[in-house]
Amino acid sequence: MGTTSYPETLTDILASMGAAGRRLNSIDAIEAGAGNLSVIAREPLELGEFFDAERPLELPLAVPHLAGYTVLVTGSGCRLREVGDQPAHNVGAVVVHEGGRAGTLHYRAGGNFVRPTSEFNSHLGVHDDQVARRGVAFQAVIHAQPPHLTLLSHLPEFQGTAELNRAILRWEPETIVQLPEGVKFLPFMVPGSDELMASNVAGLRDHQVVLWAKHGVMARSDVSPLGACDKIEYAETGALYEYKNLATGGRAQGLSDEELHRVVEAFHVPTTLF
Ligand code: 13P
Repeated sequence: MGTTSYPETLTDILASMGAAGRRLNSIDAIEAGAGNLSVIAREPLELGEFFDAERPLELPLAVPHLAGYTVLVTGSGCRLREVGDQPAHNVGAVVVHEGGRAGTLHYRAGGNFVRPTSEFNSHLGVHDDQVARRGVAFQAVIHAQPPHLTLLSHLPEFQGTAELNRAILRWEPETIVQLPEGVKFLPFMVPGSDELMASNVAGLRDHQVVLWAKHGVMARSDVSPLGACDKIEYAETGALYEYKNLATGGRAQGLSDEELHRVVEAFHVPTTLF
C-alpha cells in the first residue's frame, strides 16, 4: 500500500481508467468512440509490463512542467468502455522529455491504439497548467458527452455559466457541496482546436468541470479517474432533473436559493453561488 491517496502503480492506474470508462458508459456519456481520458503520474511507471512497442512523439504543444511525467492517454477512436477489459490495447503512455516538446510513446503493437486522442492538446494543456500552479504529482482529465448536460447547452436560456448553474445545482443538496464552484460554460468551439484547449486550461483553473456547448464536458481530479467521473455524474444528474422538469411542464419546485444557502452554511461550502 502506498501512502498517497491516488493510484500509484501502472496496474492500479489502468484499473481506475477502466472503471471510469465503465461508469461513463453506464450513464451513456461515451457512445462508441466518444470521450477520452488521460492521467499524469510524476513517479516513473513499469511500462514494460503492459506495452511492447515505442516510438518518438511530437507533442501538440510545449508542456515543460510535464518533463519526466508519464501521460497515460486513450487512443483516438478507442472505445472508453473497452479500457477496463483491454487497457493496454486502448491506452498509450507518453514519457515527456526535457523541455516538454516531445516524448516517447509506449503502446501495445497490434492493439487499438494508433495515436493519442484528438483532444490531446486540451488534456496536456490542463495537466501542464495544474502542475505549474499546484505541483500535482497525479491528475486525471476526462472528456465525456453526458446527454442531458449537452442537450441543455443547445438551449439558449442555459448558455451562460450563471444560467447553467442556476438550473443544475437546484435539484439535490449534495450538488453544491460536490461542485462548490459550479460548472463553467464554454461557448461552442471546434473540437481539438487551440481555442478550445486554451479555454479548458483557463476554465479548469477554478472549476472541476467545464461544459463545452453543443459537445460535452471536460473534468479534472487529482484523486482518480473515478473522482473526475463523480463530478461529471453530479452535474449530469442536475441536468437530468432540469430536462425532466422542462419536459413535464416545469412544475417541480427545486431547492430555493434560501434552502441552498442553508446547505452551504451547514456544510461550510466554500462557494459564492448561494
Ligand atoms: P477521440 O476518439 O479522438 O478521442 O475523439 C473523441 C471525442 O469525443 C472528440 O471530442
